[in-house]
Amino acid sequence: MDRYLQANRELWDEWTRINYQSDFYKVDAFRAGHSRLRAYEIEEVGPVEGKTLLHLQCHFGLDTLSWARLGATVTGADFSPAGIEQARALAAELSLPATFVCADLYDLPALLPGSFDIVYTSRGVLGWLPDIERWAQVVAHFLKPGGAFYITEIHPFAQVFDDDDGVTELRLRYPYFTTREPLVFKPQGSYADRTARVKAEHEYAWNHSLGEIVSGLATSRLLVEFLHEFTFCEWPVSFLLPSDDGRYRLPPELDGKLPLFFSLRASKPPTAV
Ligand SMILES: C[S@@+](CC[C@H](N)C(=O)[O-])C[C@H]1O[C@@H](n2cnc3c(N)ncnc32)[C@H](O)[C@@H]1O
Repeated sequence: MDRYLQANRELWDEWTRINYQSDFYKVDAFRAGHSRLRAYEIEEVGPVEGKTLLHLQCHFGLDTLSWARLGATVTGADFSPAGIEQARALAAELSLPATFVCADLYDLPALLPGSFDIVYTSRGVLGWLPDIERWAQVVAHFLKPGGAFYITEIHPFAQVFDDDDGVTELRLRYPYFTTREPLVFKPQGSYADRTARVKAEHEYAWNHSLGEIVSGLATSRLLVEFLHEFTFCEWPVSFLLPSDDGRYRLPPELDGKLPLFFSLRASKPPTAV
């Protein structure tokens, strides 16, 4: 694993311990039966009962286990040992059947046998990955013929603006297109608790354009069924305002004018093309 991925993994181990305790993740509500999945993704993924589902970059498993509660046979994968340990503990505590694998995403095909009806990934995943073509190859590798891939993620266009604390106007700061070298940030706590203390000094991230994401999937012979662009974000950003539905939007004069989040579904043809 190169030094950027190694540093990010150490950061995620720290964040896992913070996030697990945070109000953002509300683990107690999950224990009591609350699902972490959004209504639109449950609808867009479709029925999962009796299907096998691989969750890439599953963190400590709340989304994975939410799919298990809907009847999927789930496998979650993540490169953070702390995340996987916590996911396994939660699954055991709640008696939810699930398999969790600790591996870097790019190493997963060499470590995890089999293929799945559904490959799922969501909310805060692509920015950690340096190479989208290789990511798409991993997705295609794990899909059964006729299987479906689903992602919901922050829109790359929403990532170009300055989001430092206190910046409330739209100020172009970051490239829309991928850079070979990562963007480097200094972590301020975790996104789930900005006041928490972290030892890691750097966070390495890559923006990936929508064209790169769609073309990566197409190059891996997946057929894009839809790409929905949403005018809300699922987490707070300095230039967005909270709305009543728990999401975050541009101020009223700009609301609805720019894409902030997206969902995409693609499928693997039933027979190889
Ligand atoms: C924001 S979480 C997304 C999970 C889920 N949406 C959530 O909020 O719980 C991103 C996850 O990506 C994982 N991750 C980052 N880079 C990775 C890599 N190269 N291979 C595997 N997992 C990675 C992190 O450990 C983290 O758990």
